[in-house]
Amino acid sequence: VDISCSYTYPSNHEIKTAFWFTKWGSDMDPKDLSSVPGYKGHIEYLGDKKSDCTLRITDLRLSDSAGYRFRFITSGEKFYGSPVSLTVTDVVLEMDPTSVSERENVTLTCRTKCTLDPITVYSWYKNGQPIPNSNTYSPVYILFSVSSEDTGRYSCANTSVSVSPSGEIVEGSSVTLTCSSDANPPVNKYTWYKTKYKKMSMRHSGQRYTIHNISSEDREGYYCEALNIIGRETIPVHINVICKYDTFGLFFAL
Ligand SMILES: *[C@@H]1O[C@H](CO)[C@@H](O)[C@H](O)[C@H]1NC(C)=O
Ligand SMILES: *[C@@H]1O[C@H](CO)[C@@H](O)[C@H](O)[C@H]1NC(C)=O
Ligand SMILES: *[C@@H]1O[C@H](CO)[C@@H](O)[C@H](O)[C@H]1NC(C)=O
Repeated sequence: VDISCSYTYPSNHEIKTAFWFTKWGSDMDPKDLSSVPGYKGHIEYLGDKKSDCTLRITDLRLSDSAGYRFRFITSGEKFYGSPVSLTVTDVVLEMDPTSVSERENVTLTCRTKCTLDPITVYSWYKNGQPIPNSNTYSPVYILFSVSSEDTGRYSCANTSVSVSPSGEIVEGSSVTLTCSSDANPPVNKYTWYKTKYKKMSMRHSGQRYTIHNISSEDREGYYCEALNIIGRETIPVHINVICKYDTFGLFFAL
């Protein structure tokens, strides 16, 4: 995660030190995180000694949930940034019943405390491989009448696509599509496709995709593909394009 941050200070001052810290209290001296054991190689100060104070935390762990705060000392004064709260949550896969015999049905439920965007697709994996045609719009996946062939390690991921602006979009305007996946390991590539007459063509690479001059043909046919080292998933996007209103005058001859 990157915690974006910028700062300003009196122009006649010079920055001596700039760092991030986590624990603060009345009688505690803020401690530069990069010098705290366990944080080396885990956090990275992407900022500079001028105006950027962005912090990057790599390989997020649940234990990174904390308050973070920026601190800098100039030639004349000491300053604090406002605290930033970071919450890291896990996706938990539940199985019901927890132990099964042949021919029983098993329900897998994918849970997380994260709040994602409206159109969410859950993808299912067995031993790290995507289960074909298993994308669901509900967090539940059912294995009917299981047999020994179903033995394996199951996992789930949750991906969502958001459309901005939301709601109805008038033909001719611009719209930005954003694809987010909380997959673990993280997604390393997002690609956007458009299908037309059953042909899939690549349109854009990157998490965000802006379509200019949208037309009613763009309502369906867009897909986001999220790729990580385990596999890929494809999520359809619906864009609520409405036609431009036509106006015409009505005149009466008297
Ligand atoms: C499994 O689910 C199917 C479909 O809902 C149902 O017909 C069947 O009775 C269930 N089997 C068991 C063992 O509960
Ligand atoms: C997926 O996202 C939805 C919101 O869009 C959320 O309610 C749900 O808990 C998420 N589930 C997982 C497994 O990430
Ligand atoms: C927008 O697309 C329509 C057809 O879809 C075209 O007639 C129009 O010239 C385009 N406008 C711009 C500004 O590109």
